[in-house]
Amino acid sequence: MAVDVLNVTKKFPVYEGMTQNEQTRDGSFYALSCVSLSIKEGECAVIAGANGSGKSILMSIIAGLEEPSSGEVKTSEKVGLVFQEPDSQILGETPREDIAFGPRNMKLSKKEINVRVDSALDQTGLQQRANFPARSLSGGEKRRLACAGVLAMDARIIIFDEPYANMDFPGVVQVNALFKKLIADGKTVVILTHELEKCLALSNRFIVLYKGMKVYDGDADGALSCDLEAWGIHHPLKNPARELGDLLW
Ligand SMILES: Nc1ncnc2c1ncn2[C@@H]1O[C@H](COP(=O)(O)OP(=O)(O)OP(=O)(O)O)[C@@H](O)[C@H]1O
Ligand SMILES: [Mg+2]
Repeated sequence: MAVDVLNVTKKFPVYEGMTQNEQTRDGSFYALSCVSLSIKEGECAVIAGANGSGKSILMSIIAGLEEPSSGEVKTSEKVGLVFQEPDSQILGETPREDIAFGPRNMKLSKKEINVRVDSALDQTGLQQRANFPARSLSGGEKRRLACAGVLAMDARIIIFDEPYANMDFPGVVQVNALFKKLIADGKTVVILTHELEKCLALSNRFIVLYKGMKVYDGDADGALSCDLEAWGIHHPLKNPARELGDLLW
């Protein structure tokens, strides 16, 4: 297994003014409740869930950035993360410098670093921006830069947190092309999203989190026969709009 999550619970103190709900008990807020899941090597898994369902926390725990309150996580190797907020991941002045940061830390030769940086720029379509001030990149470009950084480190397990946020249509197509390539290269890809329609065709493994609990784990057909909307996820195939008025939420 690439990733094994065993009975992971993460709780936080209840803050003053917080409304009591089904996620609060014993004076704690349960961001994750007894979540178990396994992801095989080379698998592409989508972890779907509405805002606040626990996706990002689960990712931090899998990557070892946060400790679970109980339970444990095993990974077959180091996990590369592409964060939800790409600004938090930019370390270099330019994309070229930024992407080189990881390989340089790995003490690779200058030549190898350059090969990796060029390949990562290529794969993410950022060649034209290689020497541009990284802080001035658009939101979607920053996100691609974060992907490039992880690619250059050659991580074999990569978790993408909300990869479609801020992406225009060509951006979504490009990110999906990148995912297809990573999957073809045998990497383990985990996509955290609430936008199922954008990644439905990429994966046949879906996990749904709802209020910190795993409520579904199975294939695409099974997921589509669930009442996804009750879990706060837009059902990609349900109720296609027939007229303009139907498009209003
Ligand atoms: N340090 C913290 N202290 C208290 N509560 C926290 C903390 N970090 C996260 N939470 C809460 O845990 C819940 C899960 O957060 P998480 O960031 O994992 O959600 P998410 O599924 O990634 O949501 P989104 O789609 O909005 O990114 C949220 O209700 C959040 O407010
Ligand atoms: Mg999140």
